[in-house]
Amino acid sequence: MQKYARMTGWGKYVPERILTNLDLEKMVDTSDEWIRTRTGIRERHIAAPGETCCTMSVAAAQQALAVAQIPASEIELIIVATSTPDYLVPSVASMVQDQLRATGAPAFGLRAGCTGWVYALVTACQFLQTGAYRNALVIGTEHLSFGVDWSDRSTCVLFGDGSGAVVLEASDQPTGLLAFDLGSEGSDYDALIFPAFGGANPASHEVIDRRLHYLKMDGRRVFKFATRVLADSVRKVVAASDLTPEDIELVIPHQANDRIIEMARRKLGLPPEKMMVNIDRYGNTSAASIPLALVDAIEEGRIEAGAHLVFVGFGAGLTWASAAFHWEPQEPSAIPVADWPIRDRLVQPVARARTALWSARVNLATRIEPLLLPLYSFAAGYKKRRKKADK
Ligand code: UT7
Repeated sequence: MQKYARMTGWGKYVPERILTNLDLEKMVDTSDEWIRTRTGIRERHIAAPGETCCTMSVAAAQQALAVAQIPASEIELIIVATSTPDYLVPSVASMVQDQLRATGAPAFGLRAGCTGWVYALVTACQFLQTGAYRNALVIGTEHLSFGVDWSDRSTCVLFGDGSGAVVLEASDQPTGLLAFDLGSEGSDYDALIFPAFGGANPASHEVIDRRLHYLKMDGRRVFKFATRVLADSVRKVVAASDLTPEDIELVIPHQANDRIIEMARRKLGLPPEKMMVNIDRYGNTSAASIPLALVDAIEEGRIEAGAHLVFVGFGAGLTWASAAFHWEPQEPSAIPVADWPIRDRLVQPVARARTALWSARVNLATRIEPLLLPLYSFAAGYKKRRKKADK
């Protein structure tokens, strides 16, 4: 039977310490006015010593588990999307699994830049939709403050730290992921890069002297890419879900720059209230930004049961991803079938009918096959006898 992936829990964590634009004015040659007008950012949260990708992920995940009312020990899959893990090896997801005491749950990290959380969400849904797992924890976390060059005004004013997490549960009800669009343009891999976090530039004095261990970004190149793919990908995923832009209650985009979001909103012809923007509070938190925005939207009462959402990310790789999602966090029994939209009501009977047809065909074939066997051997023997007689 076709399974679906319901979102039943959500949580967020941001460090207590806030760095405002005015604080940054004292650190580099910048101004509150430049940062606000060019990016929409007013402040960002910065991890304290000892706070890492792992600790922030655990804090957000614990909230998500509490909302879903699932003990960590029952979680069957953990994916952490991040570009700033505690270590290159092991995966931070295994450390999160241990800290949560989600004993034995498979856990892996996923790296797709700022797009990572949407990639992770879509990946987890595949495991649930195939019936492989009954639930999953999907976390997006970023500890960018350790990788930012605090003397480079072109990047240090943009980024912040934080984490967002959701719990997905398998459901028989037609809900959750409706369609997705994932992509990458690796030819621009160097537009947003940590040059020294891998084998290309192993640790050395020279690497440090050249400041290659810090994040580098060609902002204009990424800006052009983002404004192109954001609206295109949303259009694609809405069409693939058999919806129209009017059916979408809220688009939750990656929070990199409010000008990028605004351009996409205009291209899509959406009213401002259908576009989630919270970049002013957190800056760009990369893989954490979409789940953080989702949790804020829920807390602000902007998402009602039955809503159609679109998550859309873009960033390092360069990559993009969008996912159309039906939001129905309640227990299946709590929603009378009569209240489902006609299209949703039809999905299950059609899936059931297709499965029944398929198994009837297989049954018939397995019953008829043995009856036909003597006929096949008689025909084969007849052919042989004819060949002999012709000779
Ligand atoms: O999350 C992953 C994806 N990342 C993104 O999507 C980021 C996409 N890019 C952007 O959001 C924008 O390109 C930035 C916000 C990074 C930069 O905005 P921009 O309008 O593209 O500015 P720019 O790089 O063209 O720079 C304009 C001017 C330059 O001065 P000149 O050459 O015109 O004299 C910069 O040196 O602004 C200057 N500038 C600054 N001035 C004050 C750059 N950074 C700053 C700063 N404060 N912090």
